[in-house]
Amino acid sequence: MDTEIIKIDEQNIDMSLIKKAGQIIKTGGLVAFPTETVYGLGGDALNPKSSKRIYTAKGRPSDNPLIVHISKWESLKEIVEDIPFSAKALADKFWPGPLTMIMKKSSKVPMETTGGLDTVAVRMPVNKIALALIEAAGGYVAAPSANLSGRPSPTSVKYVIEDMANRIDVIIDGGDANIGLESTIVDLTENPPLILRPGYITESQLETVLNGVKVDRGILGEDSNIKPKAPGMKYRHYAPKGSLTIVSGSSENVIDYIISHTEEHVKQGQKVGIIGTDENLKRYSADSIKSVGSVKDEEKIAHRLYNILREFDDENVDIIFSESFEEGELGTAIMNRLLKAAGYQIVQLD
Ligand code: TXA
Ligand code: MG
Repeated sequence: MDTEIIKIDEQNIDMSLIKKAGQIIKTGGLVAFPTETVYGLGGDALNPKSSKRIYTAKGRPSDNPLIVHISKWESLKEIVEDIPFSAKALADKFWPGPLTMIMKKSSKVPMETTGGLDTVAVRMPVNKIALALIEAAGGYVAAPSANLSGRPSPTSVKYVIEDMANRIDVIIDGGDANIGLESTIVDLTENPPLILRPGYITESQLETVLNGVKVDRGILGEDSNIKPKAPGMKYRHYAPKGSLTIVSGSSENVIDYIISHTEEHVKQGQKVGIIGTDENLKRYSADSIKSVGSVKDEEKIAHRLYNILREFDDENVDIIFSESFEEGELGTAIMNRLLKAAGYQIVQLD
C-alpha cells in the first residue's frame, strides 16, 4: 500500500486536507497524526474492521485495547455507560490534554477496539490537528502510538514514516510532539481511581481533583508476579535494539560505573552509547554520548527520551548505559518508560 504523507501546520490548518484525511478514516482507512504526547495511528473507533487493521499495521497483540480519542465532552455520552462525577471534574481541569480515563463502555464501542474488555479508555488531545481530524472523522478515533509494537513511541514524524510507511493510508506530518511521553491513564472504574500508566499529568495533580488516587502496583516492576491492569503495560515496550542498563546511585558512583563498564565493552569490540544529563556529560567517553538535558529539567528529559532510544537504533549501538532519574512528579513517568525500555535491568549502587 502506498502511504501518502501530508504536511499540516498546526498554527494554520488546511481544512481541505483534514477533511480528506477524516474521510479516509470514515471509510475504514488508517491515518497517523500528531498529538501533544506522541504520534497516534488513527482509525474509526466504532468500526471493528478499522481496529483490526490497526492491530495488523502495528503488529500488536489484539488483547491490548486502544484509546478512543474524542474532540468534545458531549461525545463521551455515546460511548460510556454511566459517566462518573469524577470524569467531569477531571475533564474540566485536564481536557483537552494528556489524560486518558477508563470507564464502563456502552454497546456502541466494539470489543475489537477494547481488546475484549467491557471498559473503554478515552482521551481528548489538545493538539489542534488531532482535534480537527477527530471531528472530520466522525468524532471517535481509536489511536495507539504510531510505532510498530515493541518500538519506542514516535515523537517525530521521521519515526512514524520509518515504522508505518506502506502499512497505512496517510501520515500527517504536523511537527514534533512537545511532551514526548504517552498520556497518563487513570481507571475510574476502581475506587479509589487507579493510575495504570504514569504520564505528564502527575499523581499529585490528579489528587487536587480526586478524593484519593492509587498507583497500580503491577507497573512498578517491584514484583513480577503482580500483573499490570493495563494490558499494554505488561509488554516489554519502548525497547531499543541495543541492551540497555540503568545505573542508579550517587552521582560519582554512577559515573565511575558507566566509565569502567563502557571501557570493558569497547575492549570486546562493542559499540557503546550513554544517556546522561548535561551536568555529567563531559565526564564520559564512548561511541555515542547523548544528553537528555539538565537533571533539573524533567520536561526536557521526557521530551528527549524516546528520540534518543531511536537514535541509538539508527547508529546500531550494542550496549547502552543510562543514568537514573529521580522519581516524583514527571520523574515517575520517565523512570517507568526507561525501566520498561531496559527490561527492568537496573544496577543499584550504594
Ligand atoms: O498519549 C497517548 O495516550 C497516545 C496518543 C496517541 O494519544 N496513545 C497511546 O496509546 O499511548 P497506546 O495504545 O500505545 O497505549 C494505550 C494503553 C495500553 O497500555 C493499553 O493496554 C491501555 O492503554 N488501555 C486501553 N484501554 C484500556 C482499558 N479499557 N483498560 C485498561 N487499559 C487500557
Ligand atoms: Mg504504545
